[in-house]
Amino acid sequence: MDKGNRRRFFLKSAGLGLLPAMLPSIPGLAQVGTAQQKVAIKPIVKFFGDGDLMEPDAYLRILNELQAKGKVGKDRYGIGGSVEDLEKEMAKLTGMEKAIFLPSGTMANQLAISLLSGDRAKVYLQDLSHIYRDEADAAQTVFSKRLVPLGMGKAFFTVEELKFAIEGLPSEEVFASGIGAVSIENPIRRADGQQVPLEEIKAISAYCREKKIPLHLDGARLFMAAAWSGNSIREYAQYFDTVYISLYKYLGASSGAILCGKESLISQVPHLMKVHGGSMYGNWTNAAMALHKLEGFEDKLKRSIRAFVEISEGINKLPDCSIQPIPGGTNIYFLQLPQGINGPIFQKEMREAHGVWMGRPDKNGRVPVTVNETLLYRSPIEVVTAIRNSVKKATNS
Ligand SMILES: Cc1ncc(COP(=O)(O)O)c(C=O)c1O
Repeated sequence: MDKGNRRRFFLKSAGLGLLPAMLPSIPGLAQVGTAQQKVAIKPIVKFFGDGDLMEPDAYLRILNELQAKGKVGKDRYGIGGSVEDLEKEMAKLTGMEKAIFLPSGTMANQLAISLLSGDRAKVYLQDLSHIYRDEADAAQTVFSKRLVPLGMGKAFFTVEELKFAIEGLPSEEVFASGIGAVSIENPIRRADGQQVPLEEIKAISAYCREKKIPLHLDGARLFMAAAWSGNSIREYAQYFDTVYISLYKYLGASSGAILCGKESLISQVPHLMKVHGGSMYGNWTNAAMALHKLEGFEDKLKRSIRAFVEISEGINKLPDCSIQPIPGGTNIYFLQLPQGINGPIFQKEMREAHGVWMGRPDKNGRVPVTVNETLLYRSPIEVVTAIRNSVKKATNS
């Protein structure tokens, strides 16, 4: 348990009569219980997001604690301090030659595919990928790339589909123009966090290497793929030429990205970052936080999964309730509540009486839930009890 959470448990167990008055100034804590009940203070469990998306007070407190321990170092345009420490850590973790901090994952993806493909225009990628769907056509408009989607509407494309697309080109197009790169997103956000199987990655990588086509990994949530598949970050990274990992989805930073690859490629990134207006003077607040969260993160994730297994077992014993996994998925599941439940009341009760936040169940009583480190803030039995009591309240109303 980190210091922040210890502090929360202290507050919880201290039974402080003054707390109701103080509460508005302590964000991140839930005031649990009705006016009639004894007030209890608990850290909030959030069944959404990949990590504990911190509020400013918690963020600043942790940075202060890190600073007091001498663990915050200022950089200048990404040189030195916490940024350099984080880059070294990420290079070690992925087993790649070099890592660099960038202001966003979008920029990491775009610069990676631009550098990998050089003056060859075509880049093959998943139809549902962030690069294809959610980067404002930057590859086409800014980097003169032609994105070619594969695996339409599916989580991933197979090596056979890639081969078919590439080897069919001479008969499909008259003027040959070379293949720039292939990109894989894993896990894939628009497919509810489904994974690309490692065997498929290996086959695609072997084919790309044989054909000398560079391969990029949008691994924004690579830690999730690693935790749910049991393959290490390094295992995944070895099949790619560049790997991007997000710093804010679960590593605590308020924004930022890391791109890893060969020294010769990564050393070209600072110039391009400048050209595209992404060269920021100081990045240490994000880097120091991510570096801090990185320590022991894989273990924390494993413990969160174990907690969720216990929570699921408890939920599955409640009448008409179940946890439904997504085939080949990662940290996103569906919680099925009794048909006819009043969704808004359930959500409100969970939030206000129990300090457990989740989305609103739909008209069929179904709501997505995400496994993240906040599950460790309470015992599984407490979470199951919260659900049981809230279901009762929302079915009697
Ligand atoms: C899979 C994936 N790749 C890339 C990005 C882009 O990250 P950023 O918001 O840092 O630009 C996101 C953000 O949601 C994402 O989900």
